[in-house]
Amino acid sequence: MTTIDLPLLPLGRGKDLGAERGVECPGDLPAASDPDLVARAVAAKAALGDRVFVLGHHYQRDEVVQFADVMGDSFKLAKDAAARPEAEFIVFCGVHFMAESADILTSDNQSVILPDLAAGCSMADMARLAQVEDAWDALADAGVVDQVVPITYMNSSADIKAFCGRNGGAVCTSSNADVALEWAFAQKGADTKVLFFPDQHLGRNTAVLKLGYTLEDCIVWNPLLPNGGNTVAQLQAAKVILWKGHCSVHGRFSAEVVDELRATIPDVQILVHPECAHEVVLKADLVGSTEFIINTIEAAPAGSSWAIGTELNLVKRLAAAHPDKTIAFLDKTVCYCSTMNRIDLPHLVWALESLVDGVVVNEIQVDGETERYAKIALQRMLDLPGRSSAD
Ligand code: 13P
Ligand code: SF4
Repeated sequence: MTTIDLPLLPLGRGKDLGAERGVECPGDLPAASDPDLVARAVAAKAALGDRVFVLGHHYQRDEVVQFADVMGDSFKLAKDAAARPEAEFIVFCGVHFMAESADILTSDNQSVILPDLAAGCSMADMARLAQVEDAWDALADAGVVDQVVPITYMNSSADIKAFCGRNGGAVCTSSNADVALEWAFAQKGADTKVLFFPDQHLGRNTAVLKLGYTLEDCIVWNPLLPNGGNTVAQLQAAKVILWKGHCSVHGRFSAEVVDELRATIPDVQILVHPECAHEVVLKADLVGSTEFIINTIEAAPAGSSWAIGTELNLVKRLAAAHPDKTIAFLDKTVCYCSTMNRIDLPHLVWALESLVDGVVVNEIQVDGETERYAKIALQRMLDLPGRSSAD
């Protein structure tokens, strides 16, 4: 597994509003031990009625999920937010980049609220706009930038999405990365190259396993090294330039544990998210987005056995919902997404009760210029043929 040596803020301390993980939580949070938290959330939601719409990502805690009006992966939730123009407040139980996308896709008179601003995403933090602009300049110096189409995973900050919008690129999700790459390779003829960020694994797994490129066609761009750690000849030869980023949750799954589980659970099927490393994906039976994983388990016959490589809150919920199937987690140690888990019941109650009191807290607002170009990149994704988050 690769690591990025970027200085990250310790959660809950300091403040860096330019980063994915802003870390401010003003106001008094209810105590986690307050026995009335559930009743308080129910009452606040009832008082707000249709004025509030609560979105929950599948990786959220059970205590939060019970209050979600709709659940989904990041793509579905962005579309669900856009489909609720009557809701004054969108409370986003997910992470910062998702709330930004919801703000971009909703109207100006709607407020998107992230109950804890420390709910960032370490992967999104691995590609900063200044680094991406430096990479673009280096690709220009190498004489290849006119061939490059930038594609960013949904899991990136709004300014990276805007960079793609400004430079002829698009956003993709784990549900439609193959369609987005096919679209990108059709943009500039046979010489097209794709610059894919921030998740090298999704980019590599899609380019190699879905589009038929070779591992040699893919190079890694390390933002901490000149030319991303590549020679000019390598930049000229590459078809896919993969940003050196990864998900700290999905990057934990290993090929060794796949082998161990195959040896211990008879007929187990390995089901993983494409943010997992290539060697894990190669050993899996099925690979797909969060929605794909859920749909696969729902459609699986009683008595079947599965080991799932994705976030633990979701895997535990799937296991509880399908007692007729054997469902194991594809890691030996705890593997929650720590930033997803920042959204807990005290933060949700605080956000909802503040709205009841007429105070909009933790509003996520993308500035107009960034929004304009990010919307172009998001719209290019929404216009892609054929695929939806449910695939
Ligand atoms: P999706 O919700 O698009 O499957 O992405 C997975 C993820 O890691 C979300 O943070
Ligand atoms: Fe980011 Fe990974 Fe957590 Fe998703 S699961 S929010 S990609 S760190």
